[in-house]
Amino acid sequence: MKAAVIRNKGALPTIEEIDEPIQRTEDDLILTVKASALTMVSKAVSLGSHYSSRNSFPKVAGMEGVGESKNGERFYFNGSKGMYGALAEKTLVDKNRTVKIPDELDIVTAAAIANPGMSSYAALVYRAKITKDDVVLINGATGTAGTLAVKMAYALGAKKVIATGRNKEALKNAGADDYLSSSDYQDDQQTQYLYDLGKMISDVTIVLDYLWGKPAEQIMQALYQFSDRHSEIRYIQIGSLASSDIDLPSTLLRSTNFTLMGSGLGSLNKKEVISSIEKVFELAINNHLNVPYATFKLENIKEAWTKPSHPRPIIII
Ligand SMILES: NC(=O)c1ccc[n+]([C@@H]2O[C@H](COP(=O)([O-])OP(=O)(O)OC[C@H]3O[C@@H](n4cnc5c(N)ncnc54)[C@H](OP(=O)(O)O)[C@@H]3O)[C@@H](O)[C@H]2O)c1
Repeated sequence: MKAAVIRNKGALPTIEEIDEPIQRTEDDLILTVKASALTMVSKAVSLGSHYSSRNSFPKVAGMEGVGESKNGERFYFNGSKGMYGALAEKTLVDKNRTVKIPDELDIVTAAAIANPGMSSYAALVYRAKITKDDVVLINGATGTAGTLAVKMAYALGAKKVIATGRNKEALKNAGADDYLSSSDYQDDQQTQYLYDLGKMISDVTIVLDYLWGKPAEQIMQALYQFSDRHSEIRYIQIGSLASSDIDLPSTLLRSTNFTLMGSGLGSLNKKEVISSIEKVFELAINNHLNVPYATFKLENIKEAWTKPSHPRPIIII
């Protein structure tokens, strides 16, 4: 069968002929792969540079996708077994790590929405435990996951949603109640930015942060200065597009009712990840949620690999 194979850590995938997978245990499920999203995490796991990577090479690239079983059932899968991956004609998965795709959902939408949708659903439901009184700030509401997070927060009943980030046009289109773009402020206007940010987010109770770095430090500073110190704030770390580190003032944790946690593979258990994706599919159907995508054939994997992850590249197999 045809597969996009990574020969060594960090090497780009090449199309090769490899043997088809064989079912060995009761939990093994062989799927004919139909579509796979090239997310940042899928590329990092494939190249061996993600914290959850299995570093044995050669292996088939691609972490997640949508496939069909031999009796025609359609499944989303997250992770494959052995050297198999999503970017091949067939893959081998653990059937306990699959989600049945509802008939109403097309395979490309299912492949595109599962990972970004899970990022905000799991963070809001399992980590922040959202209620209808919550005011949600999405930091980085400009890319695939952040833009969808705005819609997800409304779908899960948020009272108000605020969007921050740097791309003003994308923030405007995200559909939040209010937005603030850091790119409207020069280096010598940072005090004004903190003031405007603080005024806008003073009643925020949940933060979903896709950026981390300086934008996160500024949000924490603004919450410290402008929010009611006694009201509970759940700050959920999801992505680190601005930087992988921050300076965290100890006074913030001592003097405010502030809870900092992460949401991702590891801090969520497997059951939570799978059930989040089931719910994302339901919400995609009932609330017409979608993400922008661009499709590529498996043969063009090298071209797709170098494309930005927004709109989301989807490999059709
Ligand atoms: N923990 C989880 O469960 C989970 C799940 C999915 C994704 N994630 C993470 O979430 C993040 C976003 O993923 P995605 O799929 O939405 O990516 P994406 O579609 O590629 O979007 C990236 C967005 O981030 C913006 N951006 C990049 N660097 C920035 C910076 N320094 N300051 C402000 N904005 C910046 C870009 O803005 P411009 O338009 O200005 O370039 C773009 O709009 C990634 O870190 C990803 O790994 C986490």
